[in-house]
Amino acid sequence: MPSDLDPIFKPKSIAVIGVSRNPNKIGSILFKYLTESGLPLYPINPHLEEFMGYKAYPSVLEVPEEIDLAIISVPAKAVPQVLEDCVKKGVKGVVIISSGFGETGPEGKKLEEKLKEIIKKGKTRVLGPNTLGIYIPSRKIDGIFTLRERSPRPPAGMFAYISQSGAAGVAFMDYAAHYGIGISAFVGLGNKIDVTEAELMEYFAEDEETKAIALYLESIKDGKRFLEVAKRVTKKKPVVVLKGGRTKRGAVAAALHTGSLAGSDAVIEGAFKQAGIIRAYDEEEIIDFTKVLAYSKPMFGPNVAIVTSGGGYGVIATDYIESTPEKKGVGLKMAELTEETKQKLREILVPYASVKNPIDMTADVTDEQYDKTLEIVNEDPNVDGILCLALFQTPFVSEKLVDIVEKWCKHGKKPMVVVSIGGTYTQKMIKEMEQRHVPIYPSIWRGAKALRVLYDRGRYLKKVGAEGE
Ligand code: COA
Repeated sequence: MPSDLDPIFKPKSIAVIGVSRNPNKIGSILFKYLTESGLPLYPINPHLEEFMGYKAYPSVLEVPEEIDLAIISVPAKAVPQVLEDCVKKGVKGVVIISSGFGETGPEGKKLEEKLKEIIKKGKTRVLGPNTLGIYIPSRKIDGIFTLRERSPRPPAGMFAYISQSGAAGVAFMDYAAHYGIGISAFVGLGNKIDVTEAELMEYFAEDEETKAIALYLESIKDGKRFLEVAKRVTKKKPVVVLKGGRTKRGAVAAALHTGSLAGSDAVIEGAFKQAGIIRAYDEEEIIDFTKVLAYSKPMFGPNVAIVTSGGGYGVIATDYIESTPEKKGVGLKMAELTEETKQKLREILVPYASVKNPIDMTADVTDEQYDKTLEIVNEDPNVDGILCLALFQTPFVSEKLVDIVEKWCKHGKKPMVVVSIGGTYTQKMIKEMEQRHVPIYPSIWRGAKALRVLYDRGRYLKKVGAEGE
C-alpha cells in the first residue's frame, strides 16, 4: 500500500533548499551526500545558477519538474516562506533541518505554530523541524549533515532507528558503522509538528526491509494513538523504546532539549507493557535489544542451555540466567537437559567435559565439537533458548567457529545468542558476526539480557495470540 510518507523515505526527486556558496555549510554537505542517490536533484539558492554540476533555482516554485522531497536548511526565520513555497508547489514531503523553533522558547514556539498553519493549506507532509534528517542506506539516501570522516554511516540492515535526539542518532550510527551493524533506516524526529513517532512506527511496520523498530523518545505526541498503533505493530514486529526523561529532573532536561512534556514514568511503564513494547534503559540496550529481535526468533519458554568452552564463564552465565533483576540477573531458568542429550554429548566431548547444563566443552574444544554440541542441544525438548559462549582463545578452534554459530543462529530450532569476549582477534570475529547478522555480544551480561528480551517477546506473542513476522 502506498503511503503519503513514501515521498520522504522513497523519494523520486529531491530539492535541497539552502545549499550555499560555502561548501562547508550544512545545506552544501547534505547536497553532496545526496548526489550518491542517483536521483534528480534540485539545489535551491537565490545566488546560484549552478551547484555541483546541477542547475540551481532561486525557489522551488521555479523548478519545472515535480518534487517529491525538499530538505530545508535555511535559518529558522526564513523557513515559513520556504515552506509556504513548498506547499504551493505541491512538494510531497519536507524535512526541516533548521533549529530555532519550539525548543528555544516562546518566540520559537510562535514560529513553529506558523509552520503548522502553513501545512494546513496543502498535503505536504513534514518531518521536523530541528531534525538531524534521514538516512536510508539501501537507497543511498544520506540526508544527514554530520561529516562522514568523523561520523560514519552504518551499512544497510534489518532494523529502523527513530530518534528524537540528533546526538543520540549520530553516535548510534557511528557505533553501528564501526561494528558493521546494519540498519534499514535512520529517522530524526525533531519537533514533530506533523509526522510523529506513531506514524513512523506504523510506516516501518509495513517496510519489508525492517524486522524491528527502535525508538529513542523524550516525549510522546499523542499517547492514546501511540499505544493503539503500538498494539497493532507489536503483533507483527518488535518495537523497542528508550524513553528519556524518566525522572523529574530528566523530564525538565527533556523539556529544555526538545520543548516537549515527558509524561509520568509509572504510566508509561504500564502502558508500554500492555502494548508489547520492549523497554530499553540505556543507549547500549536499545541497540542490543533491537538487534536480537530483528535477527532471532522469539523464545517461547524460560529454559536456557549454556554452551561454553570456559567453565568460569559458564558459572557466571548461570548466575545471570537464574538470578532475579534485583540481584543482577535476568530471571530465566537453566534447562534440565534430557538423558539422551547428555549421552550424546558424552560421546562427542572429552571425558572431563561437563555435559550438565552449563555444558563445558573445555579448552580442548574443536570447531566440530561446537558444531555437534549445538546440533544436539537444538534437539533437546527441554531447551527453549541457547546462550553460546564462542571463545576464540582456545587452541583448537578457528575462524570456522563464525560459520558454525551463524548456521545455528539462523537455522537452528531454538533461538540462540552468542557471546565472544576478548581483544583484537576476538573483536575481528565479532565484527564478522555483526556483518552476518548474528546476535553477538561482547559480554555475558549483555548476551543474557538479549535472551531475556527474546523470552519477553515470546511471552507477549503467546499472550495476545499473535505469531509475529
Ligand atoms: N531560499 C534558498 N536559499 C536561501 C534562502 C531561501 N529562502 N535563504 C537563505 N538561503 C541561502 C543562503 O543565502 C545561504 O547561501 P549562501 O551562503 O550562498 O549565501 C544558504 O541558504 C544557507 O543559509 P545561511 O544563512 O548561510 O545559513 P547556515 O547554512 O549557516 O545555517 C541552518 C542554516 C539551517 C544549518 C542553521 O540555521 C541551523 O538551524 N543549524 C542547526 C541545525 C541543527 O542542529 N538541526 C538539528 C539537528 S539534531
